[in-house]
Amino acid sequence: MMSKKIVLGVTGASGSILAWRFMEAARGNEVHLIISRNSDQVIDYEMGKSSSDFEKLSTFSYSDSDLAARVSSGSFMFDAMVVMPCSMNTLAKIAGGISDSLITRAAAVCLKERRRLILVPREMPLSEIALENMLKLTRAGAIIAPSMPSFYTLPKNVDDMVNFVVSRILDLSGIENDLIKRWKQEG
Ligand SMILES: Cc1cc2nc3c(=O)[nH]c(=O)nc-3n(C[C@H](O)[C@H](O)[C@H](O)COP(=O)(O)O)c2cc1C
Repeated sequence: MMSKKIVLGVTGASGSILAWRFMEAARGNEVHLIISRNSDQVIDYEMGKSSSDFEKLSTFSYSDSDLAARVSSGSFMFDAMVVMPCSMNTLAKIAGGISDSLITRAAAVCLKERRRLILVPREMPLSEIALENMLKLTRAGAIIAPSMPSFYTLPKNVDDMVNFVVSRILDLSGIENDLIKRWKQEG
C-alpha cells in the first residue's frame, strides 16, 4: 500500500498513549505532528514523556502556535488529519469554526477542503454540549471515532485495549496495520 501523509494533532484529553502507538504503527508513512500546549502535562503525567519525545517519533513536527506553518494552508496536500486524543475543548473549537491554533486551523482546512478529518474524543459522561458538537462535526463531514476499547476481543491488558482503538484509527486513515487480530480472521 502507498505511504500516507497524515496530520496528527495531540490535545490535552486523556490517552496520550494512543498518539504514541499510532506513530509507532504508522512508521513508513509521513506523520506531521502538532501537540497542543495543554497536552504537555497529560503526556508527562500519563507516560512520563515530553512533547520532544513525541516529536522524535514523527516525520515532521510543528508548534501549535505557529499559524504560518505549511499545514495551515489548504495548498498543503495530505491524506487525512487525526486529532487523538481530542479534548472537549478542541472539539468545541473545531465545531465552532475557531482556528486560533495550528491544530484547529488544520482541522478547519480539512472541513473546508472536504478532506478526511478523524476526531478521537475522550470524556465520560458526555454533556449535551459535547454531543451537539459531535453531531455538528459529523454533519460537516468529520468522523467521530471515540476512544472506546472493545471487550469482545478479550483484551488481556491495557496494551490490547490501546491497540484496538489505534487499529481502528489506522484503518480509517488508510494505513495498513496488523495491531489486532481481526474478528473471525483465519490463523
Ligand atoms: C491529567 C488530565 C487529564 C485530562 N483528561 C481530559 C479528557 O479526558 N477529556 C477532556 O476533554 N479534557 C481532559 N483534560 C482537560 C484538558 O486538558 C483541558 O480542557 C485543556 O484546556 C485542553 O486543551 P487543548 O484542547 O488545547 O489541548 C485533562 C486534563 C488533565 C490535566
